[in-house]
Amino acid sequence: METESRNSAVSLDGVVKTYRLGEPVHALDGVSLEVPRGSYTAVMGPSGSGKSTLMNLIGCLDTPTEGEIFLDGQDVTRVSDRERTRIRGEDVGFVFQTFNLMPRLTARENVALPMVFRGIGRAERRERAAEVLDSVGLGDRLEHRPNELSGGQRQRVAIARALVNDPALLLADEPTGNLDTETGEQIMDLFEELYERGNTILMVTHERSIAEHAERIVHLLDGEIERIEQLSGVGR
Ligand SMILES: Nc1ncnc2c1ncn2[C@@H]1O[C@H](COP(=O)(O)OP(=O)(O)O)[C@@H](O)[C@H]1O
Ligand SMILES: [Mg+2]
Repeated sequence: METESRNSAVSLDGVVKTYRLGEPVHALDGVSLEVPRGSYTAVMGPSGSGKSTLMNLIGCLDTPTEGEIFLDGQDVTRVSDRERTRIRGEDVGFVFQTFNLMPRLTARENVALPMVFRGIGRAERRERAAEVLDSVGLGDRLEHRPNELSGGQRQRVAIARALVNDPALLLADEPTGNLDTETGEQIMDLFEELYERGNTILMVTHERSIAEHAERIVHLLDGEIERIEQLSGVGR
């Protein structure tokens, strides 16, 4: 376990998350999972099964009630809030259903933002942002604002922003949830390309056809892993 957890992008060992607002809710009830570096995992489960809780814990937005979480070999359950915030900024790239871009900033400025917090100079930020936008097919949209872009293009900007700090993990919560089927498939093509370039992807979706782009599907039920389905070869 020790060595394995050090080699995984993410490792969870006996993770419990209990919310105590009146009746305690065991949102996660003893989850252990290894996410190997360079792997592509989808998480599925009915509403209330704990998917978002799992993503929030792995993304260092919250801490477990019990158990341990290692992110890129670091124990993130026993560090200060400040250290956890740093790890989140450097090691996790988030992609959301609603894109969450800054409306007044251009594509390039949105993508450059996570580098501001790392103290990278302006010229380097601009150059790196353009490079990453180019790598997601938006090299000709650098100075567009979100409302001047299509839904699929906005999600590409969000993906570029998630990748700009070269994170250990790309966490995506329903990344195609606000897109039509064809645009969603284009975003899945991009994820596949990112996976082939060596990125580690963990994606929540309720759509089977989207989940099938991954290498395996983790099925959650009532805060527990019901089963893990291997899909090698499917969708590629
Ligand atoms: N902040 C919270 N406070 C109290 N209960 C919560 C909170 N977040 C989630 N829960 C509860 O935990 C369970 C799992 O929720 P969630 O992780 O959001 O599931 P999913 O994303 O699979 O729909 C649900 O019963 C939900 O009501
Ligand atoms: Mg959810």
